[in-house]
This record gives sequence, C-alpha cells and structure tokens, in this order.
Amino acid sequence: MTLAEVLAGATGYLAARGVDSPRLDAERLLAHGLGVTRLELYTQHDRPLTEAERDAVRELVRRRGAREPLAYVLGDWDFRHLTLKTDARALVPRPETETVVERCLALIEGVEAPRVVDVGTGTGAIALSIAYERPDAEVVATDRSPDALELARENAAGNELAVRFVEADLLDGLDGPFDLVVSNPPYVLAAELDGLEAEVRAFEPRAALVDEGQTARLAEQARSMLDGWLVLEVHEHRAGEVRELLLAAGYGMVSIGLDLSGRPRVVEAQWQLPTSNTP
Ligand SMILES: C[S@@+](CC[C@H](N)C(=O)[O-])C[C@H]1O[C@@H](n2cnc3c(N)ncnc32)[C@H](O)[C@@H]1O
Repeated sequence: MTLAEVLAGATGYLAARGVDSPRLDAERLLAHGLGVTRLELYTQHDRPLTEAERDAVRELVRRRGAREPLAYVLGDWDFRHLTLKTDARALVPRPETETVVERCLALIEGVEAPRVVDVGTGTGAIALSIAYERPDAEVVATDRSPDALELARENAAGNELAVRFVEADLLDGLDGPFDLVVSNPPYVLAAELDGLEAEVRAFEPRAALVDEGQTARLAEQARSMLDGWLVLEVHEHRAGEVRELLLAAGYGMVSIGLDLSGRPRVVEAQWQLPTSNTP
C-alpha cells in the first residue's frame, strides 16, 4: 500500500470512531510514525510503505481510534514556546491556558525578579512557560500528584529550565510572599463528567479534572502569602461565581478575562499584604 492509501484508510478509521478532526490527526500520527513532516506525507504520497512502517502507524492509529488524546499518543505537545512531554500522568495543556500565562506575564511585567507559584502544575506548562519567558523569575510549582510532578520535572529537564517542584496540597508548606499565585485547578463538577468527550473522561487523570473545592481553598490560603496577583483559570460557566468569591474574600481589582474564543476563562485579582508598622 502507498502512503496516500494508508493515510486515507487511517482517516476513515478515525472518522468512524468519532474523532473530531480525523484527517489532521491521521496526518500527525503518520508523520510521527514515519518520522517525516506533514508536508513530506504529500511529497512522498505514492511511496509504498514497508511492513514495519505499517505496523508502527497501525498501533498509533489504533490508540487514537480508542479515543486516547492525540497528545498522549504523540507523546509531546506544543505549549506557547515549549514542547512538553505529555502522557497519562497529567492533563494535556489546553490553548486557553496559554491565555492564563499571557495574563500572568502582563501582571508581573514591571516586577523585578518576581516570585511566582503555579499551583497544580500538571505537565508544568504554566510554571515552565513563565520560567522561560521571564528568566529572572523565581518559580515554584506544586502538585498533589507525584506522577504529575515527575512528568513536570522531566519537562523542566527537557527544556533546561529551573523550577522548584514541591509535592503539596495547594500552597501548604510554602513560604511567601509571592508576587503571583497562578493556578488552573480542577474545575469540572463530578456531575458533569459524563458529558465530557471520551478523550477527557476516559484518559485524563480524574484528580486533574474534578473540582473538590480547590479554587475556594486556594483563594483563602493565598491571602497569607500573596503580595500581588492571583490568576485563576476557571470553568467558562463559573467565572462570575469565582469573581464573587474573590470579592467576598476581600480581593481587589477583580476582573474576568476572555480566552481566544471569547469565553470567560480567567479571573484575576489583587491582594496586598498589610505593611507592618512595627519598628
Ligand atoms: C486542571 S490540571 C492543570 C494542570 C496544568 N496546570 C495545566 O494547566 O495544564 C489540575 C492539576 O492540579 C492538581 N491538583 C488537584 N488538586 C490539588 C491540590 N489540592 N493541591 C495541589 N495540586 C492539586 C492535579 O493533580 C492536576 O495536575
């Protein structure tokens, strides 16, 4: 069979299994399996594939057809300027989280050597992006999942970035003050899980998805070690609720930001530690 025939077969197979973008995914899987670029799939379209090549591609397409996330099957994923290793140890970094990083960078723009903590770091996407884009920042990242932290450490090493990773429940055990506390906490309600796409429901870690009150606890806890900005990624239907929560907790300058599709996905707020009058 030629490359073009295998590509057409893979596309049909993925489409029949409900994959959202079957042609694009098939192209990316074939390119990965054959070690070529997507453009080369077309310049080599009439090349017959060897048995070994077909086996390699078949396994990748089978996994994607079982609705495993494309990022897990490929094993890495681009996030802003970095390429991160991605597997079942942590949530796949989403495009809306890139908007969260953008807000963080804007808020710490005038701060020299900012102290930053990323709570629930997963692959390390937010922490590592800030470390990369603000090399003078001192970045700490926490997660309750040892598996996620192991992956985040591999991503730090792979991108040659220095971030201190700490296994902790939210901010437990950390010393402030921080200029920025950022988090993309789990924000799916348990009752909403069944309505999620198969890729998320069946493959991504439940601990990364299900809201167990982390947002409210973090808003409360951050007040003792924040002298700057809290930036939270939120469920698009609950931005208003989170805004009210932060206002009730005494935060100032609370505002809601939109992601690239215009959905309310980022809530930011300011907290200033009281200045001490003790001589
Ligand atoms: C939605 S994922 C976000 C991952 C990553 N920050 C991103 O944006 O791609 C949430 C992460 O929070 C972690 N997590 C959940 N509860 C936590 C807690 N109480 N303390 C620290 N981390 C927690 C999960 O293990 C998971 O890695």
